[in-house]
Amino acid sequence: MEVYRLWVLPFFYLLISYGAEVVAIKRHGLQSLVSQPYRTSYHFQPSENWMNGPMYYKGVYHFFYQYNPYGALWGNISWGHAISYDLINWLHLDIALMPDQPYDINGCWSGSATISPNGKPMILYTGGDTKKHQVQNLAFPKNVSDPLLIEWVKSSHNPLLTPPKGIDTSSYRDPSTAWMGTDGEWRVVIGSEIDHHGYAILYKSKDFIRWSRASKALHFSNKTMMWECPDFFPVTVNGKNGLDTSVVGKNVRHVLKASFSSHDYYIVGNYDPKTDQYDVGTDFMDSNDVSLRYDYGKFYASKSFYDGGKKRRILWSWISEGDGDSNDIKKGWSGLQSIPRSIWLSKNGKQLVQWPIKELEKLRTKKVHYVNKELRGGSMLEISGITASQADIEVTFSLLNLSEAYLLKEVVDPQLLCTKYNVSVSGSLGPFGLLILASKDLREYTAVFFRVFRVNNSFHLLMCADQSRSSLRPEVEKSIYGAFLDLDPRPTKISLRSLIDHSIIESFGGDGLACITSRVYPKLAIEGQAHLYAFNNGTQSLSISSLSAWSMKRAQIVPIGKRRKPIK
Ligand SMILES: *[C@@H]1O[C@H](CO)[C@@H](O)[C@H](O)[C@H]1NC(C)=O
Ligand SMILES: *[C@@H]1O[C@H](CO)[C@@H](O)[C@H](O)[C@H]1NC(C)=O
Ligand SMILES: *[C@@H]1O[C@H](CO)[C@@H](O)[C@H](O)[C@H]1NC(C)=O
Ligand SMILES: *[C@@H]1O[C@H](CO)[C@@H](O)[C@H](O)[C@H]1NC(C)=O
Ligand SMILES: *[C@@H]1O[C@H](CO)[C@@H](O)[C@H](O)[C@H]1NC(C)=O
Ligand SMILES: *[C@@H]1O[C@H](CO)[C@@H](O)[C@H](O)[C@H]1NC(C)=O
Ligand SMILES: *[C@@H]1O[C@H](CO)[C@@H](O)[C@H](O)[C@H]1NC(C)=O
Repeated sequence: MEVYRLWVLPFFYLLISYGAEVVAIKRHGLQSLVSQPYRTSYHFQPSENWMNGPMYYKGVYHFFYQYNPYGALWGNISWGHAISYDLINWLHLDIALMPDQPYDINGCWSGSATISPNGKPMILYTGGDTKKHQVQNLAFPKNVSDPLLIEWVKSSHNPLLTPPKGIDTSSYRDPSTAWMGTDGEWRVVIGSEIDHHGYAILYKSKDFIRWSRASKALHFSNKTMMWECPDFFPVTVNGKNGLDTSVVGKNVRHVLKASFSSHDYYIVGNYDPKTDQYDVGTDFMDSNDVSLRYDYGKFYASKSFYDGGKKRRILWSWISEGDGDSNDIKKGWSGLQSIPRSIWLSKNGKQLVQWPIKELEKLRTKKVHYVNKELRGGSMLEISGITASQADIEVTFSLLNLSEAYLLKEVVDPQLLCTKYNVSVSGSLGPFGLLILASKDLREYTAVFFRVFRVNNSFHLLMCADQSRSSLRPEVEKSIYGAFLDLDPRPTKISLRSLIDHSIIESFGGDGLACITSRVYPKLAIEGQAHLYAFNNGTQSLSISSLSAWSMKRAQIVPIGKRRKPIK
């Protein structure tokens, strides 16, 4: 992914690489010597944090991330490495890849892992070479019998790929996980920009070492600029099971994701493995309200991988801060990972559905539960008895009568609708939802809510995450995010799940049809001072058919190996 833009703050990253470990140790040992109200408890936070390849191998999940081991200046970008048995609790291992060769001396940048048919993991990554050109390199484990894959060896054939003529040497990066065609040849796509258009350039290889560029790109768009971190993978029609990246067939569709304009957009289409033709109905940016995104809040440079152990595809993303640079320096860390999500194709085949991995539920502890509770227009219900700053909540609202849905003349950008029809604008059906990380006096809260609109004779369910009142601190980002939920034809039961972890709220509307991740930095609503409410600010009554909320335990994220030693 983009190396320069993310490095806008070279100085602050050196603090993170040191500071995060200090904080981690304090959390585990001496507890809170420093006040860290925004430090999360069950989200994975490496020291520095850009996505590389996640992977499942011999019962172990591996996560690689960008890291500067020397810290002192921007540079020496390496692959940090952490492992897990459940994607929730993590151990940090030694660095997997260091920039020490002419083809990567200016950084071991993002890439992806691929597992060969005989079970051997391989990493393709972008290197910054001596001329600072982006080139693609290969590495493999020293000892494939070791499930921890601690040591990695770079291929003597590196660099495998250098920027072809006509492609900017700084717009050629982020190789995807490779897949094998029915002809036995490998394919991989690389993110690029050609003539100001976003591209997934396709390469083929018989041996994973010698690659040739296909005459046509897998896909491109003249409505976007540079594509970063392209991801291309199959999904099953009718089912939640994931598929290995090489699977093709009749009941399979293919998803292409590209990261651009600060968001992760995706399209669903049909891939012909013989011709490498990829056909989509709706393309990137065809129009604002049909452009599919994994998440309509903060979520960038995600990657998916196939978890062969549990036969599922998992999506994982980097979530940046919105707290301002100087506060990041004070905090001593920046950025974190979303909770890994299982993804599958929706029943109507038009989009993906996302749900937090089952393993997260192991962290649930104290529970409160309600059924069939009326929520009159203009009322609120406090969800008390759990730690509202560190919680998991699932609620289902039932609407009794849709006939009073607000009539809209046309479908417009959902984000604009959420701004115009905010939580104080009382309609008939909505706003209703949750007030999260709320202070007792309601001077602070993040409202995650729904509203039902009618356009001609069809209903449109709007989901909003409004951070405008999330903090009394003026300097923090306070975006209002919105998305439509494709809950046709009559949205009478509407579910919402929110994962709340101090400074992050990940919300899943309509059982995972639309997701919005918020980063918030309350001044009052921290730790024990945070409250959680269900609310209905519409005029019509509705009912909560069920609500369950849990306090969440802290995940174990333990530094081991060399990284444990102080960094000079
Ligand atoms: C990169 O690492 C080398 C040691 O291998 C060190 O001398 C140099 O200062 C480092 N550069 C940066 C920018 O961290
Ligand atoms: C490779 O890893 C296996 C499993 O951890 C171990 O038993 C073996 O000694 C390792 N081989 C070498 C050469 O390190
Ligand atoms: C963009 O690409 C599409 C399809 O490839 C093509 O039909 C269209 O004319 C292009 N538009 C521009 C402005 O280049
Ligand atoms: C729904 O609301 C409309 C308008 O207020 C009303 O005319 C209708 O009788 C209601 N239907 C039911 C089943 O309550
Ligand atoms: C609503 O109906 C009108 C009249 O039939 C039509 O012109 C308009 O395009 C429709 N709007 C939408 C958003 O479907
Ligand atoms: C909601 O919108 C109204 C009207 O645009 C505005 O006056 C008000 O401040 C907004 N309230 C919130 C909570 O954003
Ligand atoms: C509900 O709307 C009223 C005004 O219509 C507003 O004063 C109040 O703050 C809103 N409730 C919430 C929770 O925002």
